[in-house]
Parts: sequence; C-alpha cells; structure tokens
Amino acid sequence: MYSETFLSNEPLPSPALPDLAGSDLVTLLSQKVVGQSTATKAIVPYVYMYQSGLAPVGRPAGVFLLLGPTGTGKTKTVEAIAELLHGDEKKILKIDCGEFQMEHETAKLVGAPPGYLGHRETVPLLTQQQLTDVTSPACDLALVLFDEIEKAAHSITKLLLGILDKGILRLGDNTSVDFEKCLIFFTSNLGAREMMKEINPNIGFQSSVGKSQAEVFTRLESIALGAVRKRFSPEFVNRIDAVVTYNPLDAEAIEMILEHDLLALQEHVNLRLGDRYFSLEVTPGAKEFLLRKGVSQEYGARELKRTIHRQLTQPLATMVARGEIRPGAQVKISIGPTGDSLAIECLGGNPVMVRRQPTILIVDDNHDLLFFLAAELKEERWEILIAENAAQARLAFYQCRPDAILVDYMLGEDDGLKLALEFQAQAPLSHTILMTGGGVSDELQTLWLDRALPVLYKPFLAQDVINLVRGRFSKATAVATV
Ligand SMILES: Nc1ncnc2c1ncn2[C@@H]1O[C@H](COP(=O)(O)OP(=O)(O)O)[C@@H](O)[C@H]1O
Ligand SMILES: [Mg+2]
Repeated sequence: MYSETFLSNEPLPSPALPDLAGSDLVTLLSQKVVGQSTATKAIVPYVYMYQSGLAPVGRPAGVFLLLGPTGTGKTKTVEAIAELLHGDEKKILKIDCGEFQMEHETAKLVGAPPGYLGHRETVPLLTQQQLTDVTSPACDLALVLFDEIEKAAHSITKLLLGILDKGILRLGDNTSVDFEKCLIFFTSNLGAREMMKEINPNIGFQSSVGKSQAEVFTRLESIALGAVRKRFSPEFVNRIDAVVTYNPLDAEAIEMILEHDLLALQEHVNLRLGDRYFSLEVTPGAKEFLLRKGVSQEYGARELKRTIHRQLTQPLATMVARGEIRPGAQVKISIGPTGDSLAIECLGGNPVMVRRQPTILIVDDNHDLLFFLAAELKEERWEILIAENAAQARLAFYQCRPDAILVDYMLGEDDGLKLALEFQAQAPLSHTILMTGGGVSDELQTLWLDRALPVLYKPFLAQDVINLVRGRFSKATAVATV
C-alpha cells in the first residue's frame, strides 16, 4: 500500500480560489477531507442550493449535525469548506460550546439585556458584523460552527431553536441578527465512548471484529443518533437538515492524510526557503513510524500534525539553521537505528560556503593602527583581511566578499568615502563601516546618515569595532531566521 514518494520541488503557484462554478465541489472537498464521502455528499447540495438562489427563505441555508469519533475530520470539514468558498480556512464563526456550559452564559453569545449589570460591557459573539466578517468578496455565505454542542447549556440550545426555525436571533439589546445566509454546523462527540467499544481497540484503528465495515458503520450511526435523541429535544433534532456520522478512519484514509501533510511540508519548504529548497524523500518505514505515533483510536488523526512537527519539521529546521542541508539536496527520512526516532540524511545538493566566523576587511593607510586592529580582532577568532590602499582593498573585496568592511575616511591618496560607498552598493548584505578622525562637514555627515553608513570616530577601542560588527551580525542573523 505504501509507495516511496519523491515529493516535487516544483515551486507552487500562489493559492487561488477555485472556480466553483466549473468544478465539482464534492471532489474538491473530498480531496481535503479524506474518506468521509457521506458527509461531503450530504453537505455540498446545500451550498449549490444557496449559490443558485434556491435556498429556503426565513431559515438558515443549511443546518448540519456532524457526529462520530474524535479526530475523524468533523471540524476539518468546515475548515475545508471555508477554504473552498472564501480562500481561508479560518473564515468560520466558531463557537466553542465548552465555554457556554452555564445557563447564564447565554449573555456572552447575545449580550445582556439593557438594565442588567454590565450590559454595556458584554459584546455579543453572534452579531451581524461577526457574520459579515467571515464572508469574502467571492462568497457571502457565512459558516457558523458550534463545536461540541453537547457541552452547551440547555438555555443555549433553546436559543438556537429560534435561529434554526426563523433564521433570526434576537440580541440582548433587542436588535436581531439574520442567519439566512448561513450554513450552521454542530459537531458532537455524543456516543463517542460507546462507539469506541464498538471499534475493537486491539486491532488497528478501524476493525471489523467479524462485522463488515458497513455493519460497523450502521451500528455507529445508531449509537450516535440514540445519544443525540437522549440529549436534545425532538424540536431541535427535527430542525436539522442532515445528521452525518463520520467513519472511523481506515488505514487507507490515514495514509492519505499523512501524504497530504507531508506534501504540505514540502510546499512549505519550497515557498519559504526559495533557492535553498530541498526535496524530502520519506521512506515507508518512516511513514509507518509517523502513523504509529500520530494516529490512535482515541484521538483519530488529531495528533498526526503535531507528531510530524515534533519528529520531522523541528529536527529539519535545526539542520537547516546549522547549514547542514545543502541547497537542492535530497533529504532522506528513514527510521533511526533505535526505532524510536527518525534519521535524517542529506544526499547531494550544492555545497554552500558555510562560514562559521565572520570575515572582516580593514582598510587603513595607518600601518600601526591596521596591525593593532587586526591583532585584536583575531582574538575574536574572526578572519582578518587587511589593505593599505584602495587598490588592495578592491582586490580583497572582490575576491573574498567579506562579511564586514572597515574603511578609513582619510585613505592617503585615495578617497575612503567613495570606496566605502562602492562596497556598500556592491554588497548590501555586508556591513560597511567608515572610520574617521573627526572634523567632518555637516554635509558629509548628512550623506552618511542618508546612506545608513555607520561611522566610528577615532580614537576608538578595538572593543568598539567588535561591538559594532557583532551587533550588526546578530541583527542580520535574527532577520534571516525563518
Ligand atoms: N478525514 C480527514 N481528512 C483529512 N484530515 C483529517 C481527517 N480527519 C482528521 N484529520 C486531521 O486531524 C485533524 C483533527 O481533525 P478534526 O476535524 O479536528 O477532528 P474532529 O472530528 O474531532 O473534529 C485535522 O486538522 C486533520 O489534520
Ligand atoms: Mg472537532
């Protein structure tokens, strides 16, 4: 079932909104939410109905209850729809029902009525503006997600009845919010524990234990519905357009989710590292390792992303920062010798000049000062280049491309300022610093400031040079860190 994947190095086109009119939303959604075609097929028609103007008036465009084991893609479904409709998976008005377990907490949702203590301070979560904020120029359909609805206080579910029935919510200040241009999703783990018992914990994530997959699924569906009927009033359940039970993920589905996540990591590398990109090759053993660590019966695929991050992305990032991965290299990920971590091996690629210590070029016609500075900076284990005139300086500069250049303003016959500006223009990422004995005109000072050319006034201590260069290096490193 596993195949060795050499992930592509092709640079990605920037993400664009899919042309929904020309493509099949079911297919697009199924690519993002794996192995849950029942859910996709149940939800998508409501989006089409809305887009064609055929959605019912006076109620939300669609109301769904998503049930099933944890980490099987319920929340992910809503995020994927947001991405397809609005180009951003975060364009969801999400209400975490765990935060509304007490009866009086309805005020947080709708605001307190006038006259109540603190009514002015309570900004309701469900306002027309909040709904508008999660739409986009491409689509005015807002997605509202009530996550883990079973945790909400009964007063909240009663309040929701009004929304489901008439598409209207009355706020504490007596204004109302219109939910007609909304898809409303409730997710719930009701019955999850009983479902876990149904799925045998000893054999794989989804197990038949003598039953067919279809039988297991029917059983899970009836467990979920039973739990829902016990918890919610018939009025509430009747106002839901589709109740969808999510499948436990089978081996094929979780492998596909892993492939998606690895591809996303490769895309991230391509986008963020530019010409320092490398390609990932993940061996079947390494994939198995990630699945074993990241997927469980209890949490589904919830831990998979975190596992990839901890086991793969973080060690990779460290190697990149240390310059241990050559641009264009093939990075092979396999299982380590002890079997409890991954081994990362860099193959091929172009050599990079990794300089551990900065190289500094000092240009001064004052021989004594030149040698004194060179000796002091050597203590810092910097590579030192010296030049006594512009010609020598140019030679050293163009051959060695130093990280920092210290140029004396009064350079005998030569023009130190002109030389410094030349180096600064040629190598903007190097740090060119001018040294001067003072007595400089205002005009010149303005020029230095304009060109952001740092100036050291003589007499200075070797330590001043060290501090200046070191300060600029650490700044540059901080900026360069991804
Ligand atoms: N069917 C699926 N397709 C793609 N990714 C999934 C699927 N199920 C779970 N995942 C992964 O696991 C994470 C958690 O899934 P989520 O949808 O939040 O679970 P829940 O069903 O508990 O709401 C997702 O962000 C995604 O990375
Ligand atoms: Mg969820």
